[in-house]
Amino acid sequence: MASLTRTPAWRELVAHRRSWEQRSLRELFAADPQRFQRFSLEACGLLLDHSKNLIVAETLDLLLALADERGLQNQIRDLLAGKRVNTTEKRAAWHSALRAGADAPREVRNTLTAMRKLATALRDNKTGDGGNRAITDVVSLGIGGSVWGPALAAAACAPDTVAPRVHFITTPGESLDRLLGTLDAATTLFIVQSKSFSTHETLLNAQAARAWLQASGIADHGPHFAAVTAQSATAAAFGVPSERIFPMWDWVGGRYSLWSAVGLPAMIAMGADAFDELLAGAADMDMHFATAAPGKNMPVLLALIGLWHANFFNMASRAVIPYQPGLELLPVWLQQLEMESLGKSVSRRGKPLRQDSGPVLWGSAGTEGQHAYFQLLHQGTRPVPVDFISSCSPRSKSSLGGPSAGARDAEQAHAVMLSNCFAQSALLMHGVSAAETEQALLQQGLSAREAARLAPHQALPGNRPSNTLLLPVLDARSLGALLALYEHRCFVQSAIWDINAFDQWGVEHGKRLAGSLLPEFTSTVPSAAHDSSTDGLVNYSKQHNRRT
Ligand code: F6P
Repeated sequence: MASLTRTPAWRELVAHRRSWEQRSLRELFAADPQRFQRFSLEACGLLLDHSKNLIVAETLDLLLALADERGLQNQIRDLLAGKRVNTTEKRAAWHSALRAGADAPREVRNTLTAMRKLATALRDNKTGDGGNRAITDVVSLGIGGSVWGPALAAAACAPDTVAPRVHFITTPGESLDRLLGTLDAATTLFIVQSKSFSTHETLLNAQAARAWLQASGIADHGPHFAAVTAQSATAAAFGVPSERIFPMWDWVGGRYSLWSAVGLPAMIAMGADAFDELLAGAADMDMHFATAAPGKNMPVLLALIGLWHANFFNMASRAVIPYQPGLELLPVWLQQLEMESLGKSVSRRGKPLRQDSGPVLWGSAGTEGQHAYFQLLHQGTRPVPVDFISSCSPRSKSSLGGPSAGARDAEQAHAVMLSNCFAQSALLMHGVSAAETEQALLQQGLSAREAARLAPHQALPGNRPSNTLLLPVLDARSLGALLALYEHRCFVQSAIWDINAFDQWGVEHGKRLAGSLLPEFTSTVPSAAHDSSTDGLVNYSKQHNRRT
């Protein structure tokens, strides 16, 4: 693939970028009352409003020409057909096959059947130890892609599930100890979630769980363990009964694995039918991605607009801000998806990139964020493109599974949330000029001198881009579509930037170095094998460790 920045389409975009020195979103909206209709799109039940981005029709035409020049349609076809798009590991990235329903590979369908069998039995209180006491608590032990997808899906679709309760533990030590202190070993099932079955944190937690069962007088651990992994033999050696080992495959990337058996804890929390809905929502988005014309293709448009802001406006970070209870974990899930996929500096052929790749992604629940970091979003010197995500109606009582406030209260709370969500994106776009601010201050009765003094501090520059994504309601199907949308957005950017979105070599060195540092914490010999800072930190922390 030609070097991106040397392509004709890229050069056209560079020229077009210059025209944005004179443009403002405020003027574009004033000049075109149809701007929202022109730059919004519905697909798979979702609405994308991309009208508040630094785009005009010509911008999208040029970006679509770039996508065409990069052979995007063929790349999408290869991805969805299960071709080896993971060029460094020579593997497919065929997460779409996991939600292909009847067309899914046999091993996928068989695994879903086995997942459904266990999840239904657990929800029907039909499994337990030899004494047949029902399992009351399921503890998922996993990290990264082996936790964020199912934790997000469970929080979004079944936050109040009680039979059985589903817990997610990532970090060894305190959090597991604290949880185990509240559980009954006889009615607890651990699911060890690890594609590699070698992730240190997860294995430490699994060993701690086994020791806890032992200490609780449970000799036969088998009924209290299940595993989700691509390393079945290792899981069996750990002591997980073979009928409780759910396979993963090397063609499923960890951060794309919610749809596989990694989703088992979510299926237990939300029920097998709801999990099927999650898969169906994602399959809807796969079909849209595969068939919609690029200019009407939601993942393609989101990706290209994101690339435009990142590469042509040097916006080094982007924020994803859900105004939606149940989506608090979305930014965490997306951080891994995008930063582990797009945090690359060489092309698929190993050549250094000539332009930036993935921006830093951050975010949190909007209602809280607006009382924390929105100050910078509105008045900081570095514009940050934002994705606002919400829904048109509050979650139904039935989908929540627990007692909830009255319908009118829920509607009221939802309207408050939507009004804040829409107000923030409007102000980021529109801004409030110093003159308007001064006028307002005068109308509040301030003196001309005081108004002039305060106006620059209170004015909002505006012209700050954002997308708004609206779900009809947050449920399993809309969540499936939303997450698949972001997976495909991520792929499109990797395709244009010519990077491999499906490997993560950069995380391996840290694991190895941490492994070599660990024994030094129990050694009586001062650390002296590293740089002076690392040695210094190891020795200082050992000297100041109050427990030893
Ligand atoms: O260290 C990063 C990573 O390999 C992620 O890509 C992955 O999702 C996570 O660790 C957990 O890996 P595993 O499922 O093999 O335990």
